[in-house]
Amino acid sequence: MATLIDGKAIAKDIRREIAKEAAAFTEKYGVKPCLKVILVGDDPASCIYVNNKQKACEKAGIDAETLRLGAETKTEELLGLIGKLNADKLVNGILVQLPLPAHIDEKKVLDAINPEKDVDGFHPMNAGKLLEGEALLEPCTPKGCIELLKRMNVEIAGKNAAVVGRSNLVGKPVALMLLRLNATVTVCHSKTKDLGDVLRRADIVVAAAGKPGLVTGDMLKDGAVLLDVGINRLEDGSITGDIDFESASKRASMITPVPGGVGPMTIAMLLKNTMLAAEAQNA
Ligand code: GUN
Repeated sequence: MATLIDGKAIAKDIRREIAKEAAAFTEKYGVKPCLKVILVGDDPASCIYVNNKQKACEKAGIDAETLRLGAETKTEELLGLIGKLNADKLVNGILVQLPLPAHIDEKKVLDAINPEKDVDGFHPMNAGKLLEGEALLEPCTPKGCIELLKRMNVEIAGKNAAVVGRSNLVGKPVALMLLRLNATVTVCHSKTKDLGDVLRRADIVVAAAGKPGLVTGDMLKDGAVLLDVGINRLEDGSITGDIDFESASKRASMITPVPGGVGPMTIAMLLKNTMLAAEAQNA
């Protein structure tokens, strides 16, 4: 049976480390590192995520404020708010919670964030820097995946890694990060002919397709390390990942649970990025 990768416990360790960094920052500069989160509308899942982000910040000694705007907010209003936060020297990080309501031009909004304050790492400037291997602010979920591998002492260099899913949020950035760490990386997606054929050669699998139970034990190499990024809500209200835990955990050497695996790492990396941004802006 596979060892469980306890993302919740690892994220807690990291949050404790960040709290020390935040305290040292506050001591040095006389102000706390500061994150502003923008939430447009009242999508229930987004409300929960945003509350969790704010609470985690406060606990770590990072000043966090959630700016709540009505669902009818126009793109121009949001751009105006971002402009103000960009200009405010006391604001170190800006995060616009996604998804935005359909009438808002999401790309325009994300592109308006000052790249130095882009703690989500979604700005094209930071995406480009990630491609070059030198981004300060990298997307939180992929960064959390890599941190889990490091803290579990999983060797990456020279290993075969397969990423399932090619989103800009997770699949593409995590593939670039694994490549930078010298893995041989294959990116699979909905048009991949034979997923099992690729996965059976993979020592590390990152599943980020948003399809419940897509990856099953028969598709896996014995001893593979499995990171499940999927957060899928089933009809009975339960949350499940992209990997069929029951069959996969019999083949894997390590596996993340859902929930409690990659999810908690996303917030820990958001705190880390807020600290990195705050320190870079004051350097
Ligand atoms: N919605 C779901 N995940 C994320 C995330 O990592 N960042 C933002 N801004 N919105 C999200």
